[in-house]
Amino acid sequence: MMELIGRLVLRVKNNFMEKSKTEFIIIKNGPLHVKGNFTLKGTDGKLIDVVDEVYLCRCGASKNKPFCDGSHKTHGVND
Ligand code: FES
Repeated sequence: MMELIGRLVLRVKNNFMEKSKTEFIIIKNGPLHVKGNFTLKGTDGKLIDVVDEVYLCRCGASKNKPFCDGSHKTHGVND
């Protein structure tokens, strides 16, 4: 079971109209949950995927970085 420990909300506004909202949710002892309107790019600047929700690894043990593959359950993230 994942436990929410924090939330950061980023709002991008243009001419007083809200264009998008992206949420960054830190899951206790787990990944970073990002949802909303965003793009994800790799270290080479290329687009990895166009999605509206991802779980990003915070423990460094994922074999599918930058995505969480559940490895944190055995390697741990200590929040
Ligand atoms: S946080 Fe889940 S694999 Fe790293």
